[in-house]
Amino acid sequence: MYNRFRLVALATVSFAVLAPLWTQAAEDGKLEVFSWWTSGGESAALEALFATYKKQYPGVEIVNATVAGGGGSAARPVLQTRLAGGNPPDTWQSHPGYELLGQYVDPGYCEPVTDLYKSDGWDNAFPKELVINLMTKDRKIYAVLAGIHRGNVLWYNAKLLEKNGIKVGGQMTFDEFFAACDKLKEAGIAALGVGDSGIWTSAQLFENTLLGVLGPKDWTDLFRGTIQWDDPRVKQAMRLFAKMQNYVNPDHSALSWDQAIQQLIEGKVAFSSMGDWADGEFLKAKQKEKEDFGWVAHPGTSGSFIVVADGFALAKGAPHKEAAIAWLKSIGSKEAQEAFNPLKGSIPARTDVDRSKFDGYHQWSMDSFAKDKLVASCVHGEAAPAAFQQALNDAVTAFMVDKNVDNFANSLVQAAKESQSAK
Ligand code: GAL
Repeated sequence: MYNRFRLVALATVSFAVLAPLWTQAAEDGKLEVFSWWTSGGESAALEALFATYKKQYPGVEIVNATVAGGGGSAARPVLQTRLAGGNPPDTWQSHPGYELLGQYVDPGYCEPVTDLYKSDGWDNAFPKELVINLMTKDRKIYAVLAGIHRGNVLWYNAKLLEKNGIKVGGQMTFDEFFAACDKLKEAGIAALGVGDSGIWTSAQLFENTLLGVLGPKDWTDLFRGTIQWDDPRVKQAMRLFAKMQNYVNPDHSALSWDQAIQQLIEGKVAFSSMGDWADGEFLKAKQKEKEDFGWVAHPGTSGSFIVVADGFALAKGAPHKEAAIAWLKSIGSKEAQEAFNPLKGSIPARTDVDRSKFDGYHQWSMDSFAKDKLVASCVHGEAAPAAFQQALNDAVTAFMVDKNVDNFANSLVQAAKESQSAK
């Protein structure tokens, strides 16, 4: 198999000689990569992946198929239509867990990539628990990880907090968080920046808060079905989430996640609870760690790491299969992981990279990943089937209006039952 990849690298020099070995479509020398990485930080990081690929496999033209909308809210439906219509991109961004296995592998849209783990010596380079538990079906592996985000981070504008006499230590309780919010509110500042034009960001604020109340063990039990969605502690998290709404910027529903981070940068809001793709926006805006912005685990979640991993899958019937396999080899290479992740905010999925190439935030996140409890994200498609993920978004939308904890809890109890029986 290795030799076939070498052919891709050589394609520009001796295309005529190699042409008969290529599939028909590969002869146009293209590669279509599908993702939703369009914000400033996201697209800078994606470009770094492209640059690495072009260096490693010159002569392939990359078609950058992005559909804007954080969290893939708009991209995933477009992708489903394409896959169902037999018009797949060569490779696409996917979260491991239910999203990868349930939406793409089960319906037969993916080719396994197990051989790459052998040919490229990856068996020990990637975290086994993710690869085996969330990316493998019938002993076949179906994706390559570009990086691993942490979902439960509370970012803050360091100067704004200082100005308002608010100190943040190594971790934060809900009481400390609300005390800071009250202080900011008194000073006329919207404490908590949200951009939920895509409702997933509020769902994520709830997800982070839920972990803060439950802790990692009960989180896992909740998604296993041994704790119910109307458990008193789940309801407690719902009440805390409702309380947070008192401190949110009034224009939240008009903003995207990255516009909310922009407001934080500009000092219009003080905090934002967001996955560490936010770090990509700080870097893009040349913000300095500690001086301009800081971070702490979302209240109550210190010691837990919500994994939001970004993988790429290989389409069955990929129009440019050789180039797509080369893409997967490339993003799994140390070179690509060291180029991409410092810009994206994620940590490299490979555990054998040069740590000195990463800044303070990444060091913090790498340490946390190594020692903390890892839990799967529901909002980002890992912990539950797509139908439940959607039900959570819908329930959050309704809750933002009626603030009715019983309705919120009951709709999730119902959705969990339905997704259990649909499995
Ligand atoms: C997540 C994805 C991240 C980041 C974020 C915001 O689902 O894993 O890479 O792009 O959405 O768009």
